[in-house]
Amino acid sequence: MKLIFLGPPGAGKGTQAEKISELYGIAHISTGDMLRSQMREGTPLGAEAKGYIDRGELVPDELIVAMVAERIKEEDCANGFLLDGFPRTVSQAEALNGISDIDMVIDIAVPAERLMERIGGRRMCSGCGAGYHTSSYHKDTCEKCGASLYIRDDDRPETVKHRITVYERQTKPLIDYYREKGNLSRVNGDNTPDRVFDDVAAAIKGLV
Ligand code: AP5
Ligand code: MG
Repeated sequence: MKLIFLGPPGAGKGTQAEKISELYGIAHISTGDMLRSQMREGTPLGAEAKGYIDRGELVPDELIVAMVAERIKEEDCANGFLLDGFPRTVSQAEALNGISDIDMVIDIAVPAERLMERIGGRRMCSGCGAGYHTSSYHKDTCEKCGASLYIRDDDRPETVKHRITVYERQTKPLIDYYREKGNLSRVNGDNTPDRVFDDVAAAIKGLV
């Protein structure tokens, strides 16, 4: 099974992708997580990506496409994968067409006014990458692995506003792009995480 999760920053792509990939035994490929791990390791790609990420801009298409093309060749993708945060431009989607077919694109729709609140309370685990929100989780260590939680550098309010503008301009056109291809499914992301999960799972059900 090969899936794409679309949606604005803070829509809940990562939250849902973690659970769906586990449920179906497919690889969770988050380009944002991959870039952050390259930055932590201090690789040339990480160094190049850092400026773009800190400004809330997209990393150039050719770097991202090459990274994803390599990633989906790995063994854990044999059973399928879930792309979280890729593609993000029409040009990335066109490149993906030449690399792999896709069964379903799920757009997790959340109104803009909710996004700042979601990202403002987000805390990430420095060990396993799990995501939390201060409204429902009050500890400063991860309940799964015990590592400390941190706030992403690009989660500052001014950067988030710019990320949302970049989403509107460069990524939102993909909704029509995939609708026209006929494999788009839309889920209301402005619900509890459990309810969103049920709706995503229901959308995928026809595929398994
Ligand atoms: P990336 O890491 O992909 O960030 P993003 O797309 O901006 O999305 P987020 O990770 O911020 O949000 P999410 O939808 O995963 O929400 P989450 O589940 O965490 O990309 C970062 C940067 O990397 C980009 O800006 C760009 O520079 C670069 N990049 C990455 N991919 C690229 C690409 N393809 N091309 C070019 N550049 C690229 O949820 C958010 C919060 O809300 C959490 O606290 C969560 O607990 C909470 N929450 C989740 N669901 C709910 C709910 N239903 N109700 C209440 N709270 C909820
Ligand atoms: Mg994410």
